[in-house]
Amino acid sequence: MTAAAHQLAPSPLSRRFAAPAAAGFDLEKIRGDFPILSQKVHGRNLVYLDNAATSQKPRAVIEAIVRYYEQLNANIHRGVHTLSVRATEAHDAARQTVKRFLNAGDAREIIFVRGATEAINLVAASYGRTHVAAGDEVLITAMEHHSNIVPWQILCEEKGAQLRVAPMDDNGELRLDEFEKLIGPRTKIVAVTHVSNALGTVNPVREMIERSHRRGVPVLVDGAQAVPHFAVDVQALDCDFYAFSGHKVYGPTGIGVLYGKRALLEAMPPYQSGGDMISSVTFEKTAYNVLPFKFEAGTPDICGAIALGAALEYIDGLGMDKVAAHERELLAYATEAVGAVSGVRLIGTASERAGALSFVLGGVHPHDLGTILDREGITIRTGHHCAQPVMERFGIPATARASFAVYNTKEEVDALVEGIQAAREVFA
Ligand SMILES: Cc1ncc(COP(=O)(O)O)c(C=O)c1O
Repeated sequence: MTAAAHQLAPSPLSRRFAAPAAAGFDLEKIRGDFPILSQKVHGRNLVYLDNAATSQKPRAVIEAIVRYYEQLNANIHRGVHTLSVRATEAHDAARQTVKRFLNAGDAREIIFVRGATEAINLVAASYGRTHVAAGDEVLITAMEHHSNIVPWQILCEEKGAQLRVAPMDDNGELRLDEFEKLIGPRTKIVAVTHVSNALGTVNPVREMIERSHRRGVPVLVDGAQAVPHFAVDVQALDCDFYAFSGHKVYGPTGIGVLYGKRALLEAMPPYQSGGDMISSVTFEKTAYNVLPFKFEAGTPDICGAIALGAALEYIDGLGMDKVAAHERELLAYATEAVGAVSGVRLIGTASERAGALSFVLGGVHPHDLGTILDREGITIRTGHHCAQPVMERFGIPATARASFAVYNTKEEVDALVEGIQAAREVFA
């Protein structure tokens, strides 16, 4: 493949898929907002298709981080001095941005955490420990990321409870009927992924929440792979908890969000303890702070929250509907183009998918494929994607996964396809 391959003229498939870009959606301009995309890897233009692992950051986020440390840095909440007040205001404003982004009813329902993993651990440790007892059940699905399996497994082991797993079919689609059957009188919480990171499956979470609520069971939704790709409205979903990571939605690492319904959060005990999560401390008794601070012990990632706010404003400013439409078209294009390569088996062919395309190439280990593509500047992820039970379900040790973001193009998909074909020839 030549270095120029990444600026391919539109392929026949690309022409067939050519749809008029949504008004005001300027892909070239968007790509220009991400400085990292203009670099070369192994002398080739970078084709970044590992967005499900982490997405790249727009200049607005990078500048928010620089501005914070150049102009604002101070600890929040505790200071009367000007910098502390300004940093506190910027941190509060970021929480308001998250509230608007998720359409939460109240900013007190937005807890800043380190990421989706910490958000789920918080719910398992706080809500889980107080509501799950011996003989109870926690219901998850067969397509969860390890982050939405292990915290529940640990809780169940600790309590003598049982982890139940709703199955999926050969397309990687949840068996909704089986899911419903598994919601029983002992089910204390349901925890489901909105979008599978390994398969791209979009779960019918609204329906799953409704069926769970009919039986009085609260639902946590792991939205790590959803919020980057389409608008999420926690009130419309009526979920009880919603978790996501900042770094997958164009924000920095080390910051994420747990949304929780206020009444549930109010009733839950703290997760971690220390400074900031208290209203008063004596050696005899500690009174806890109000929401959201009750769940934000210690100095938080102040800069991270502010930069996350900048990321959400950026992506929302592009229009989530336009982002979703662009990515939907790109994923359909990639599915057809990659699926047409001889020897490729797609893993995950659900009717509703977002973000990720998983596949195996006959006779080529995914790691070898990933290494060959990397030599061409094409960045994909190979392995079990922290979803080993998904690999087991499909009888494979690993997949190659291309995952997409708002800045990806059909020409990049063409480069990927060309790279896969070249790898096939190498191993033929
Ligand atoms: C579906 C899903 N849930 C949870 C996580 C965990 O996210 P983090 O490692 O940012 O906490 C990931 C990360 O890949 C994910 O894809």
